[in-house]
Amino acid sequence: MQIRARMSMSADGYVTTPSGWPALTADPAFVSGESHGIRDFLEGCEAALMGRTTFEPALTNERWPWPNLNVFVLGSRRPSGTPDHVVTDSDPARLLEKLRAANQGGDVHLVGGPRTIETFRALGALDKLELVVLPLLFGAGMRLTPSLDPDTGLTFERERALPGGSVEIVYAVSGRASGSPARDNDWSPASQRSGRK
Ligand SMILES: NC(=O)c1ccc[n+]([C@@H]2O[C@H](COP(=O)([O-])OP(=O)(O)OC[C@H]3O[C@@H](n4cnc5c(N)ncnc54)[C@H](OP(=O)(O)O)[C@@H]3O)[C@@H](O)[C@H]2O)c1
Repeated sequence: MQIRARMSMSADGYVTTPSGWPALTADPAFVSGESHGIRDFLEGCEAALMGRTTFEPALTNERWPWPNLNVFVLGSRRPSGTPDHVVTDSDPARLLEKLRAANQGGDVHLVGGPRTIETFRALGALDKLELVVLPLLFGAGMRLTPSLDPDTGLTFERERALPGGSVEIVYAVSGRASGSPARDNDWSPASQRSGRK
């Protein structure tokens, strides 16, 4: 069982629209449950895991977004209207135990959002981070960081172009990113003028 987070993001790095919807919902190519490579992605998955904030809008959706998956939700309360088969827990380690106990060998789609991805990363349970970069600029919205620890180590595994102009990038997640001089050093215009590097 692998826990695979998959997040869509705009080309300027936002995982939500300025009004808080998942980035891919703004793409004219978006079809719930079909577009942006989701069918291929879900082939090996048997469960969906998410935070309460990401889960709640599904309760009023026209279409139940996870028809063939066992659903696990992290949150301090069980939202009213939650179907009986959905497992909720307020404790991430306990929810992870329930997820593992129910697992029959398939992968887990970690739907998000960023806080829940970080929660399971910090538990050492996040195996993959998959990004779907959309051909859109938002100018504002929520980013993956700082909720997700910026020191998270990523190792490139593969990429593919998707119909509609998006690109899927798959990273394996490891402990910590190795130090990057480009990130650590000051590259402000002032430091360049004074000759500092
Ligand atoms: N671009 C995409 O593909 C994509 C995918 C999914 C979601 N999103 C976006 O992500 C946004 C939501 O992200 P988010 O990070 O704010 O919220 P989130 O991760 O969906 O849910 C956060 C909630 O999960 C629970 N939680 C998280 N970590 C916890 C911990 N360590 N211990 C206990 N409970 C914990 C808490 O529930 P309680 O408050 O009940 O305690 C917390 O309020 C939405 O705007 C959604 O549109 C984007």
